[in-house]
Amino acid sequence: MSTEPTHEPTHEPTHRPAVEMLPAWSQAEGAARAAAAFRERFGGEPDGVWSAPGRVNVIGEHTDYNGGLCLPIALPHRTYVALASRAGRPADEGAAADRDLVRLASAQEAGTWEGRIGDVAPGSVQGWAAYAVGVAWALREAGHEVAGFDAVVDSCVPYGAGLSSSAALECAVAVALDDVHGLGLGGGDAGRAQLAAACIRAENEIAGAPTGGMDQAASLRCTAGHALLLDNRDGSTRHIPLDLAAHGLALLVVDTRAPHQLADGQYAARRAQCREAADALGIATLREVDDLDAALDRLGETLPGGTDVAVIRRRVRHVVTDTRRVELVERLLDADEVEEVGPVLTEAHASLRDDYEVSVRELDLAVEAAIAAGALGGRMVGGGFGGSAVALVRTADVDGVTASVARAFSEAGLAAPAFLVATAEAAAGRSA
Ligand code: GLA
Repeated sequence: MSTEPTHEPTHEPTHRPAVEMLPAWSQAEGAARAAAAFRERFGGEPDGVWSAPGRVNVIGEHTDYNGGLCLPIALPHRTYVALASRAGRPADEGAAADRDLVRLASAQEAGTWEGRIGDVAPGSVQGWAAYAVGVAWALREAGHEVAGFDAVVDSCVPYGAGLSSSAALECAVAVALDDVHGLGLGGGDAGRAQLAAACIRAENEIAGAPTGGMDQAASLRCTAGHALLLDNRDGSTRHIPLDLAAHGLALLVVDTRAPHQLADGQYAARRAQCREAADALGIATLREVDDLDAALDRLGETLPGGTDVAVIRRRVRHVVTDTRRVELVERLLDADEVEEVGPVLTEAHASLRDDYEVSVRELDLAVEAAIAAGALGGRMVGGGFGGSAVALVRTADVDGVTASVARAFSEAGLAAPAFLVATAEAAAGRSA
């Protein structure tokens, strides 16, 4: 028997699990689906179909509610809303209350939600309808005349994957209501920032999710071919060209399909820890930290007794270093050193895993398996505790990395992940 090494790779797969790619609909297809679903549910024609994208963040996680930087792109995957407003209805056609009526249906959910905008208040709407009708409520709160409507939603944004399916729904409703009422907000970035603010209020106050605002900004303010550098201190933006394919690269998204347990409570807990740290340091947000070591030292003196200082220090270190990593990635992209972004992503993952403690086994495995198979770097994205990871991969390696990640999940006895290649697409708008 020969002991000569063979040329067969020792990690040759014993089996090759099928790889599921998550398709994005064209806007024509998405609009046709939503319009058809509208006709079926409500009869008649909608006023139009509007859509808004999910997002994936290149870097800068849990920085938005700390006044820091993040760098999302809008995905090709969008949520479509076919909507007919009651705004044009003559006042004498029915009681004012009927003009206020909202009826909502979803191609993904059974049943129809019915209610009146005037009755919407924090805690009054349960489930997905809160994200849609909450936007009408928030626009009214901001002083805009908004009437009731019928709407049907259809979406190819993967649900529960940490790719902002909820922001996509809010933002699609926001541009629809803006358009049918002629509010004029969707036509420019300043107006879109106002629409984003309404969507954030809907999510925070009506849906009750204490998120930070990156997702709505991405869905409403991104431009095709660019990543959105968002400065959450003042809401200012810069559009950074991001044509990965031209550099022979791809941003591979791995939807780990890990169950999102505990996610809400953990997100709120992280926010509270950051607030506590900023208060202890006497600053408005952690963005104001210039000297990280000095701030970490000071926390030992200024945090109230009984606080786990070591934990708060780790949280602060993640938040401050992640905004610095966004600045580094900005410089690398400006210098066309795109491959160098990979290791920065991997560093960010370590920070999210070890300092912010929002990763889970599936996210770590996705990153590790991708890098072992040749990815230039990767990290978990979004809030964490499930959801997706991204890997920066040479175009030629996409199939191999995808297969290796799928195999690693299968070997670990985990549910099969799903994949998509993210490209930087357009923000919310009218689709038909
Ligand atoms: C979720 C929230 C965002 C942001 C990210 C973490 O996606 O919706 O506001 O805080 O987590 O960066």
